[in-house]
Amino acid sequence: MSTAPCDPYRPVAHLRPPRNWINDPNGLVFHDGHYHVCYQYNPYGATHANMHWGHFRSPDLLSWEALPIALSPAPGGEDADGCFSGNAVSDGDRLVAFYSANRWDRSPQHQPVTSATSRDSGRTFSPRGELVVPAWPEGCTMYRDPYVWRDGDRWRMLVGAALADGRGAALLYESPDLDTWTYLGLFDAREQEPVGDTGLHTGEGWECPQYLPARSGRPGALIFSAWNDHDGPRCVTALVGEEHGDVFEAGPPALVDHGPDCYAPALLRAPADRWLLWGWSGEAREEAWSVSDGWAGVLTLPREISVGGDGTLRQRPAAELLALRGEYAVQAEGVTQGPEPVDLGGVGRAFDLTARLETTGPAGLRLLTSPDGSEYLDIRLDAATGELVVDRDHASLDDRARGGSYRMPCPADQPVDLRLVVDHSIAEVFLTSTGQVLTLRFYPTGDGPWRLQAHTAPDTHLRYTVDAWELLPLVIKEPSAETALPQGQPT
Ligand code: FRU
Repeated sequence: MSTAPCDPYRPVAHLRPPRNWINDPNGLVFHDGHYHVCYQYNPYGATHANMHWGHFRSPDLLSWEALPIALSPAPGGEDADGCFSGNAVSDGDRLVAFYSANRWDRSPQHQPVTSATSRDSGRTFSPRGELVVPAWPEGCTMYRDPYVWRDGDRWRMLVGAALADGRGAALLYESPDLDTWTYLGLFDAREQEPVGDTGLHTGEGWECPQYLPARSGRPGALIFSAWNDHDGPRCVTALVGEEHGDVFEAGPPALVDHGPDCYAPALLRAPADRWLLWGWSGEAREEAWSVSDGWAGVLTLPREISVGGDGTLRQRPAAELLALRGEYAVQAEGVTQGPEPVDLGGVGRAFDLTARLETTGPAGLRLLTSPDGSEYLDIRLDAATGELVVDRDHASLDDRARGGSYRMPCPADQPVDLRLVVDHSIAEVFLTSTGQVLTLRFYPTGDGPWRLQAHTAPDTHLRYTVDAWELLPLVIKEPSAETALPQGQPT
């Protein structure tokens, strides 16, 4: 990958192009022996504008090839002001992308569905040129983000929406041939609802609905990203339930990711009925900073996702990523009683760590990113509340970086197994026993080596086992110069 080695924040084991803005993963599909991963991309700068679909593919989730830009806005066309989000399906030798066609003169919140077809394994796409679903149902105040899947001998499609009566919704369509679509009604719709006791809500509208159908006696999951017309905190929610006719009946909403920096995740149905998820991890620093660095946004690791026997969504890094483990960095085992921290060893700026922690009180791991110990990312267990806390309040001495501490449920009365993947400015924490995950971005300013410590509150007894490996960079083959940029000029 043509990374700028002097940029300390650019991840090396997470997908993103060398420069410019990215947001949502799009068009995720296994086709012609490859995982295809497209993404919202502004080829002209590091802010959200001129949305195209960038495109990577990989046979194994490890070595990637950047293909030419898949979708570009057509001047004067239905998508003249952006090819917004959507997915793609594999149908024989056809790869068909469905996406949200943006024209600001149509409406800022309505992006009707259009499509584009590739017959050369995703190297080039022929846009349909006209809308697939020309009008949205009456009463939609927001409408975008198609998700198409095969269901027996028919195709089905969800589109995200906000309804005039205040509900967020996923609208259901059906097609025999991917060309003509019939609207069937609301697949699911809910008034804005709290998500557990997180302080977050399901939103006025649902962006990027994704669907993992029920199978083998396990319920299905509808995932969507909460959209609010007047901004406010955004979260990603899963509803777990079953299809009854053309309606999805589900239980209460649950968070898909407990951190602040994972939005608009998308699903890919991989061979052997395996489901993968990538999210968009946006910047948690002032925009001027990322603009001056020339890039913004990264995709999360690919995660295997399933609905557990207990009806909760479970995620873990795709097994293939174990091959990115390089040199052993830390192998530490011991018991401490506090309050002095225990040094566990040094790590690079990209590492993959597993830990088992057994504690009688507040305790955890600290990633020191400055030699004097003033800058650190904390991961601690709060036995009193039964939560794992990831605290970035001291993770950057630069006040243009966001702080905050974030929690996910974690029963600490038993040994806690976690996996932490840190890649320069992104940290993803997976709880092995529950399958819950928390993603955040952080921007350490120290240029010295990083170290890991075990921390305990006074009189707390901590038993720890920690193993960490340096993380190898993904191999990304960039496109040739003539295919790296879209034709034409930004709109
Ligand atoms: C989610 C989203 C989508 C939209 C796209 C535009 O982040 O707002 O709803 O299609 O981004 O880039």
